Amino acid sequence: MTYLQSFSLEGKVALVTGSSKGIGAAIAQIFAAAGAKVVISSRKQDQLDALAATFAEEGLTVYPIAANVGNPEDNQQLVEKTVAQLGPVDILVNNAASNPYFGPLENTSDGAYEKIMSVNLKAPFDLAKLVLPGMLEKKSGSIINISSVEGISPDSFLGMYGVSKAALIALTKSMAREWASKGVRANVICPGLIKTKFSQALWSNDPLLTQMMHHVPMGRIGTVEEIAGLALFLASEASSYCTGGVFTADGGYTI
Ligand SMILES: NC(=O)c1ccc[n+]([C@@H]2O[C@H](COP(=O)([O-])OP(=O)(O)OC[C@H]3O[C@@H](n4cnc5c(N)ncnc54)[C@H](OP(=O)(O)O)[C@@H]3O)[C@@H](O)[C@H]2O)c1
Repeated sequence: MTYLQSFSLEGKVALVTGSSKGIGAAIAQIFAAAGAKVVISSRKQDQLDALAATFAEEGLTVYPIAANVGNPEDNQQLVEKTVAQLGPVDILVNNAASNPYFGPLENTSDGAYEKIMSVNLKAPFDLAKLVLPGMLEKKSGSIINISSVEGISPDSFLGMYGVSKAALIALTKSMAREWASKGVRANVICPGLIKTKFSQALWSNDPLLTQMMHHVPMGRIGTVEEIAGLALFLASEASSYCTGGVFTADGGYTI
């Protein structure tokens, strides 16, 4: 295998949550371009179908299956349908996340807490457990959790979101430690500010963006492609010695 071939995902089945847009869509696109059979998933089937049609125009095939990762039954069905259609999952990307509340930590409602934890932390754990038997059988698999720089260095007003992302980093390390000897790798990506709908409130406010960029040594916001390339590395054999890694892509924000 040449070095470049080690980035190929030919013959692999990948499941990417939260992939109708933003970072997840870019990861699905680069995985499909690298040869994987990719299931794209989010809550809205029509948006998934539209994205699949756009990718088809570029010659890329992806398989849309709707699921709300905050619902354990949806997760079960998502994995069952993926396995039935394409075979066992080789690569799981836990990318879907929720942040329903921005404000003082002490005002976080029980409802917001439950939603953040179920979507950002419990769903990645549930989905990992659902794909694990297939990975153990093959003695091979790559789990990539999408956390955030907020999980390393929390900002004000993103309180429980940051807590969920810190816990996701810890969960990734536990997965990596317990499953490494069985051939299953787990790594976590911590993006900085990336231009997507999720972060629009931050980057569409010019004074706020200028102020935030003072803390980013590269002085700019990131793109979804700048996360997708890292995800491809972690999904592929190119990263075969990486497990339990915490990979920032943040323009230097966490230095
Ligand atoms: N953008 C940033 O600056 C930034 C920075 C650090 C970390 N991140 C992390 O990067 C990941 C992706 O964020 P993004 O910026 O790409 O967001 P985005 O553009 O808003 O996309 C989010 C995706 O997740 C889906 N989704 C949301 N809730 C879901 C649920 N309960 N079940 C299933 N799918 C769900 C959305 O589709 P539907 O709404 O149709 O379900 C959409 O496909 C998240 O984990 C986020 O925490 C982002």
